[in-house]
Amino acid sequence: MSGVFFVGKKDEILYPLRLGDKSYDLVKPFGSEFSQLVFSFSIMMSYLRDFPKEGLILDVGAGSGWTTEWITRCGFKNVFWMDISKFHVEVLKERMKDEMRAVVGDMEYSCFEGGSFDCVFCFDALHHSENPQKAVNEFFRVGRKSLILNEPSRHHESDPKSIEFSKEYGVVEKGFSIQQLHKMLKKAGYSTIIIRPADLPPPLFSRKKLLNLNLFGVPARDVLYNTPVMYASRLLNKGLIVYAEK
Ligand SMILES: C[S@@+](CC[C@H](N)C(=O)[O-])C[C@H]1O[C@@H](n2cnc3c(N)ncnc32)[C@H](O)[C@@H]1O
Repeated sequence: MSGVFFVGKKDEILYPLRLGDKSYDLVKPFGSEFSQLVFSFSIMMSYLRDFPKEGLILDVGAGSGWTTEWITRCGFKNVFWMDISKFHVEVLKERMKDEMRAVVGDMEYSCFEGGSFDCVFCFDALHHSENPQKAVNEFFRVGRKSLILNEPSRHHESDPKSIEFSKEYGVVEKGFSIQQLHKMLKKAGYSTIIIRPADLPPPLFSRKKLLNLNLFGVPARDVLYNTPVMYASRLLNKGLIVYAEK
């Protein structure tokens, strides 16, 4: 096992053991969160469209490894899984078989030399870090070029579910605003930073009557949803997908 561990992090490490249910880890992303997970994943993968298939990708905070598996299935040959908890490795082995490339380690104190990876990919994990700035600095250091990141909304840490999880399992649950995320990336050294909402289109019905108005047979909200105002409000309130380059 690599990395330096603080006592508080033992809860992150033990979390898969405490949860004890391997079955979801093995089938993730299939389940109730499917559309949100795959929507975000698909947007993230769009930034890898022109990325060389031989390029080195570090999937950090990769947990059960569904993203590692899916990136590999998209044809990328050098995808490395990394997570602080060794208790995910058994599941990862089942997923990846001979293609498994795994490193157990802390994203804040990674064991890799500078510039080891062409791309750092981080799905839904940075907000579990005790010191996210340190983690982003590490992403910058170990990455040669790009960072692709998915994070829940700034409201995540005050969500009753997150509070309950933190209390029950001791895991860190943070939430970042667009400004906080942007500041961290700038401070780490990234020059190009693209941030967009990680949010599914709205459900069909809304209580806001105005948005249900029909415009020549088309519900207004379907048309208005992608206007700059709607886009900005989603950016401020929803999860975020980030593409950053050195
Ligand atoms: C919400 S899970 C997301 C897992 C995976 N990316 C997915 O989408 O299924 C967050 C993951 O971050 C990992 N993690 C938490 N703190 C970490 C750290 N300091 N370094 C590396 N991984 C960490 C946890 O062990 C967990 O697997």
